Amino acid sequence: MNSDIRKFIFNDLQSVEGYIDPPDALVFLTLLQTQNLQDLKGGVAEIGVFYGRSYFLMKAATGIRQPVLAIDLFNLNDDDDGTPSQYRRFLANGEKLGLPVDENLIIHGDSTALTPQEIVDKVGQTRFFSIDGGHMLHHVASDAALATATLAPHGVIAFDDTFNPAWPEVTVGVADFLRQKADELRPFCMTKYKTYVCRSEFHAFYTAAIRESGHLAAFEHVETEFLGSTAIRLNNPMGRRMVYELMVHAGMRGLSERVYR
Ligand SMILES: C[S@@+](CC[C@H](N)C(=O)[O-])C[C@H]1O[C@@H](n2cnc3c(N)ncnc32)[C@H](O)[C@@H]1O
Repeated sequence: MNSDIRKFIFNDLQSVEGYIDPPDALVFLTLLQTQNLQDLKGGVAEIGVFYGRSYFLMKAATGIRQPVLAIDLFNLNDDDDGTPSQYRRFLANGEKLGLPVDENLIIHGDSTALTPQEIVDKVGQTRFFSIDGGHMLHHVASDAALATATLAPHGVIAFDDTFNPAWPEVTVGVADFLRQKADELRPFCMTKYKTYVCRSEFHAFYTAAIRESGHLAAFEHVETEFLGSTAIRLNNPMGRRMVYELMVHAGMRGLSERVYR
C-alpha cells in the first residue's frame, strides 16, 4: 500500500546512514511502481550502495520476487581489527528492515572492472539502474557505459550528484555521456541531485509518469531544456525543505511524510 511504503521511506529508511533526498526517494518510488503496474520487467541494480539507503528503497518498491543487485567496493570504515565494517553493516540493515540481502546478488569490487554480462547473468536486463559509485570522470564514463549495455528497452538510469558542485567531474561525465548517446538516450527528469535518463522511445511514457504521479504533486514541475531534451525539473521550495529538516531534527520522522503530500 502507498501509505505503508511512504511510511517506510520517511521513517524506517532514515535509520540507514546514507544519501537520498525525499524528492529522489519519491521519484524512485514513482518509477518503480509505474514499471510494476505496467508489468515492465527486469533487474534493478545500484553501483555504490554505501549502507543501503537507496538500495533498500529499491528493494521495498520492487517487490520481493524481483532481483536487486548491489555493487560496491565495501571497503569503508575499518574496524579496530582492520576489517572493513561497511559490508557487515549493510547486511545488518537488511535484517533490521525486514529486507534481507541475497548475498548471491552482491558484487563486491570495483564497478569499472565489471562487464555487462556479469550483471545480466545475475539479474537479467535492467529496468532501473542507479549510478552512485565513484565520482570521478573515469568512473562515471565507465559506469554509464556499463549500465547502458545492460538496459532493457524500458530501462531507466539514475545518475547521482549530477549538479553537485562538490563533484564537478560527475557533471562533465553525465553531460559527455548524454551528448554521445543523444540518438539513443534522453533525460526526462532532474532533481537537485539526480538526473533520470531513458531510451528515446520511452521519453513520453516516463515524462507522463513523473507529471501525473501523486507522490510528486508537492513539487513544482518546471520544464527544462537539457541537451536537446525536455526534462521535468522537480523544484523543492526552500520553505518545505526547512520544515522537513526541522521535523526530522525534532524527532518527528513519522509526521515528516505529510510535508511531502
Ligand atoms: C555516496 S556513496 C553511495 C550512497 C548510497 N547510494 C546511499 O543511498 O546512501 C558511494 C559508494 O560508492 C562506492 N564506490 C566508490 N567507488 C566505487 C567503485 N569504483 N566501484 C564500486 N563502488 C564504489 C563507495 O564504497 C560508497 O559506498
